[in-house]
Amino acid sequence: MLDHDVIIVGGGLAGCRAALEIARIDRSLNVAVVAKTHPIRSHSVAAQGGIAATLKNVDSEDSWEAHAFDTVKGSDYLADQDAVEILAQEAPDVVIDLEHLGVLFSRLPDGRIAQRPFGGHSYRRTCYAADKTGHAILHELVNNLRRYGVQIYQEWYVMRLILEEGEAKGLVMYHMLDGRLKVVRAKAVMLATGGYGRVFNTTSNDFASTGDGLAMVAQAGLPLQDMEFVQFHPTGLYPVGVLISEAVRGEGAYLRNSEGDRFMENYAPSKMELAPRDITSRAITLEIRAGRGIHTDGSAGGPFVHLDLRHMGREKIMSRIPFCWEEAHRLVGVDAVEEPMPVRPTAHYSMGGIPVDTDGRVRSGVEGFVEALFSAGECACVSVHGANRLGSNSLLECVVYGKRTGAAIAQYVQNRKLPSLEEAPYLQEAKEQVQALLDQQGEQRINPLRQAFQDAMSQYCGVFRDQELMEKGLEITQELQQNYGTIYLGDRGSLWNTEIIEALELKNIMVVGRMILTSALNRKESRGAHSREDYTQRDDPNFLKHSLAFYSAAGIDIQYRPVTLTQFEPQERKY
Ligand code: FUM
Repeated sequence: MLDHDVIIVGGGLAGCRAALEIARIDRSLNVAVVAKTHPIRSHSVAAQGGIAATLKNVDSEDSWEAHAFDTVKGSDYLADQDAVEILAQEAPDVVIDLEHLGVLFSRLPDGRIAQRPFGGHSYRRTCYAADKTGHAILHELVNNLRRYGVQIYQEWYVMRLILEEGEAKGLVMYHMLDGRLKVVRAKAVMLATGGYGRVFNTTSNDFASTGDGLAMVAQAGLPLQDMEFVQFHPTGLYPVGVLISEAVRGEGAYLRNSEGDRFMENYAPSKMELAPRDITSRAITLEIRAGRGIHTDGSAGGPFVHLDLRHMGREKIMSRIPFCWEEAHRLVGVDAVEEPMPVRPTAHYSMGGIPVDTDGRVRSGVEGFVEALFSAGECACVSVHGANRLGSNSLLECVVYGKRTGAAIAQYVQNRKLPSLEEAPYLQEAKEQVQALLDQQGEQRINPLRQAFQDAMSQYCGVFRDQELMEKGLEITQELQQNYGTIYLGDRGSLWNTEIIEALELKNIMVVGRMILTSALNRKESRGAHSREDYTQRDDPNFLKHSLAFYSAAGIDIQYRPVTLTQFEPQERKY
């Protein structure tokens, strides 16, 4: 058995920022990060457009209160306002701290950090490193972790959380290189496992975003909060779905339909292309439905709209958003200096997740907390994004709440002993689980079953939803989940057997997908990214509350907990 004071699952921004904070506070603590990829290949590295903070370098009249208000309004009033206030107030300091750690932000001519406009923000407050902001931040964080001697178990896959009598005691992990199994025992466990974009068939997320931490928590009998709120980013590159950053619109690009019209005029006239993402994704979907989408031959009635950068000119495109230009050129052969990019909504972000308080402590239900278990980042729900996240608030959440959670953990483990834990039954269980997969004599490979599940989620729980659609989705996904036993692995070896990981991930995708569908079916209103065609209005009297979904073999049970309101009274949301 391996022992650490703290074990953090996930090598992305939230996990690395928490690890750094713990090491900074108490260098004697033995902290480890376990990640299924090399940390600088975590999905945070793909974040493009920036990180919001009211540095006031461009718009001097900006304020943390304005940032908090924009975030709460963007959330369609479901965000917990105490958590949002912390986010907005702490933002400038965490960004300056990143700069001191070595992050190379883009600059204004006078040398201060540059800031650009982003959707739903009323001032230019998004700090950036061209369109590779996540890359710039994560590289420096990982460098700094090495400097502090934080141990990194890379390419280890965490199979289960060890939770006994309401206390997290450690985890079981599998080494992808050679199939070794290990139990890790710790005084505190933190989950920072990121999102679940791969639950859907078209996503901006990397292949590793399979909701592992969420599924682990759900299968341990703990709740997941607000899972119905899935963000579809408006500009996924068609047909691949990869992200074309909102920064492209922040720098001035237009959305046009098959008639060449800037159709956002009809949906959000005061914000146009910089409306919040839920509104922009619905607008694009409605244009496509109305026959004003575009085909690859340029004719009307097709599956995408155009993102037109041509008026911006080569110099601006190449200096501010070079990576987006490169993606379109490399993946679909479009030179965006000369021709518009084909785009449509793509599954991007999870507003919901593991419910936590503002110190990252994981909730066990409507009331109460799990002992020794913490979480932050996209897999957690604190909740600063409510029903719809504003762009550039997710990197911020990872850094603010990664840091806060790290500080809370450093405090929590002081004078705490390692828990008593019997390792053998956990090792045996994991060994049997792997062996059962290797022995499984099914009739299909993993890919067709995963594809069918992802297709069903996109078809039955996409940008627009209704009861009939979601009930059908639940029926189909249940059947697909029951077919899990029909897969077989082509590789039966133990060395670098990626099929074992894919099989474990598929199980997680299925758990998370069904939690999303069930939570969505039970929320009978439209709010933020949850847009129902049978309940078109927001319904505060009945649904200004967070959902908590509990998973069990018998089914998924939904409970609710209240939203925290401080200074912003819910109002009609107009742009
Ligand atoms: O569009 C983007 O660059 C994405 C940013 C975000 O999700 O915050």
